[in-house]
Amino acid sequence: MTDDDSAGACFSDEEVSNVRKSLNEASVIPTLCYRDEDYHRKEVEQVLMRSWLPVGRKDQLTDAGDYFTRNLFGESVVIVKGADKKIRALSNVCRHRATQVLDDGAGNRKLFTCPYHRWTYDLDGRLRGAPHMDEAEGFDRKSCRLPEFRMETWNGFMFVNFDPNAAPLTPELKPLTRALAPYGLEVLETIPFKTLPCNWNWKASMENFTEAYHHIGIHKDTVEPFMPAEKARYEDSNNAYSLFWMPTTDNKPMPSSLPAMPGLPDEYYYSKAVANVYPFLHLLIGGEIVLWLDFNVQSVDRHELVWHLLLPATTLELPDVEERLKPWKERIEEIITQDIYACSKARTGQQSRFYTPGRFSYMEKSVYQMHNWLVDAMNRTGNITR
Ligand code: FES
Ligand SMILES: [Fe+2]
Repeated sequence: MTDDDSAGACFSDEEVSNVRKSLNEASVIPTLCYRDEDYHRKEVEQVLMRSWLPVGRKDQLTDAGDYFTRNLFGESVVIVKGADKKIRALSNVCRHRATQVLDDGAGNRKLFTCPYHRWTYDLDGRLRGAPHMDEAEGFDRKSCRLPEFRMETWNGFMFVNFDPNAAPLTPELKPLTRALAPYGLEVLETIPFKTLPCNWNWKASMENFTEAYHHIGIHKDTVEPFMPAEKARYEDSNNAYSLFWMPTTDNKPMPSSLPAMPGLPDEYYYSKAVANVYPFLHLLIGGEIVLWLDFNVQSVDRHELVWHLLLPATTLELPDVEERLKPWKERIEEIITQDIYACSKARTGQQSRFYTPGRFSYMEKSVYQMHNWLVDAMNRTGNITR
């Protein structure tokens, strides 16, 4: 055990083994994982900084020089399409005296110029110019460059991993890729929807959107009448992802102002799919539209939920697309308001001294998969028991 581990900021042996039991016998992770700053630091360093983190969609970068920045656990990263059309994830930190090169945001540049002393970088991160550095002995301009991080794309989503030794993402997702193939997610187009600041731990949000059990409670008048919790069907997984299907009450498509995705077989239109790639990719997939949720984690009890919509180009080209989207957005906003209420109440309860980890319903298989992913990921990279 390292000094850091002795801080007592992780699980007990019993808590780990209770998460790892079969679903019918398992308990949830302890509330320390939602409120303890020492635990959160370990989670960031041992798990999140070594995970495949979704950073955006390929269609958000169309031309050479298009870029946007992300702040991932204090690391400023720029995602940029190079002159060679390759998309790279580069450290947005100047090699001179560590200044943030590009302001937070998005745009198009031919070169990246640090505002402090005007060192300039090509779009692939190579140093192009460094004024008045001729007398710096042994300074090698050729080897000086913005560090590049690993990147993979899956179904149009771009993922970054800071860990040079991480296992590749795509092979882990093979069954999910097969299951979602009919939707053609890769070619859907991305538009922004809404961003919500939250003052609780990111996992509480992910868990909330990751099961249909709560339809009978918090959504009893909104979702449950159309997509009853007991009809949801949860797939087995290797815990890197989860997938479940939510058929409609009468196995008929829900009324929608949006057209069905072209070429989608009928049965996909009568059910919604919920797919997560842990830690942060969450998709609510319908036969006409996909709601993509992304996370900006800021601290143990602060994050932003960032939603985008994915739609076929044929829908986005409709002259009345905004009008058609309006009722859909109103309905989903009402549902999200209920989810946010539930999460805020969970936050209050997670501070309790008297709560001990509760048991899962079979309807929470995907939360169980997420908790096992977390325990396994913590365990892979350090001693997690206290
Ligand atoms: S810190 Fe960037 S040029 Fe000096
Ligand atoms: Fe919900």
